[in-house]
Amino acid sequence: MIKLKNVTKDYGSIKALDRVNLEINAGEMALVVGASGAGKSSLMRLLYREEKPDEGQIIIGNIDVSSLSHTKIPYLRRRMGIIFQDFKLLPHKTAFENVAYALRGLGAEEYEIQKRVSGALKLVGLIDRAFNLPSELSGGEQQRVGIARAIVQGPPLVIADEPTGNLDPATSFEIFRLLEKIAERGTTILVSTHNQQIVQEFGKRVITLDKGRVIADTGSVNVPGFSR
Ligand SMILES: Nc1ncnc2c1ncn2[C@@H]1O[C@H](COP(=O)(O)OP(=O)(O)OP(=O)(O)O)[C@@H](O)[C@H]1O
Ligand SMILES: [Mg+2]
Repeated sequence: MIKLKNVTKDYGSIKALDRVNLEINAGEMALVVGASGAGKSSLMRLLYREEKPDEGQIIIGNIDVSSLSHTKIPYLRRRMGIIFQDFKLLPHKTAFENVAYALRGLGAEEYEIQKRVSGALKLVGLIDRAFNLPSELSGGEQQRVGIARAIVQGPPLVIADEPTGNLDPATSFEIFRLLEKIAERGTTILVSTHNQQIVQEFGKRVITLDKGRVIADTGSVNVPGFSR
């Protein structure tokens, strides 16, 4: 699903990523850990093509992300859901409209929007809060809206950079349980975290970065039934 070959990203003299090689299978949930500045966010930004690597190749599915032309970036982004630490919800739109936003942008039919958005909000347990604004929701609920928005188009891949960085431990666990549930439905999930307890409890593959290098990887887990 995701393949990085010798990926390097420099910011001046800093090597945010240094010859990273990585393969993540379809349907796998992998955690990315490492100290502040280790390169976690840089890795995520390269995957959703917020930035380009200086060297190496990044393949997602059958898309060569590293050499993708600008005009094809929306096509890449439709195949991945992105979840942010600070949620990035539109403050003047309801939970429902936040989740519906991209579908509306694509010109989806109203019945299709209703069906998909309700389905996503049900999955994250927020259908009762569909018509509340983000300011009326708790942090954990706002992140659930962020997750619903990420999965509403049924992407094969979800990328989350410290999705629980602003949440308390109990809420963080709930969010990880939800991501695990989404992974169990067949979505590949790459998620970074600083939360050591979550890393231990969830027993997922753990990729450790240090100064831009992969210094430990508990290894890929083959998920039966997936070969993308
Ligand atoms: N836009 C940028 N310009 C210059 N340096 C950058 C930029 N983005 C990241 N860096 C540097 O690259 C290195 C990796 O940063 P990155 O944000 O990927 O780390 P991180 O693992 O996400 O850290 P944190 O846990 O604090 O979020 C750091 O040394 C950082 O200062
Ligand atoms: Mg970061």
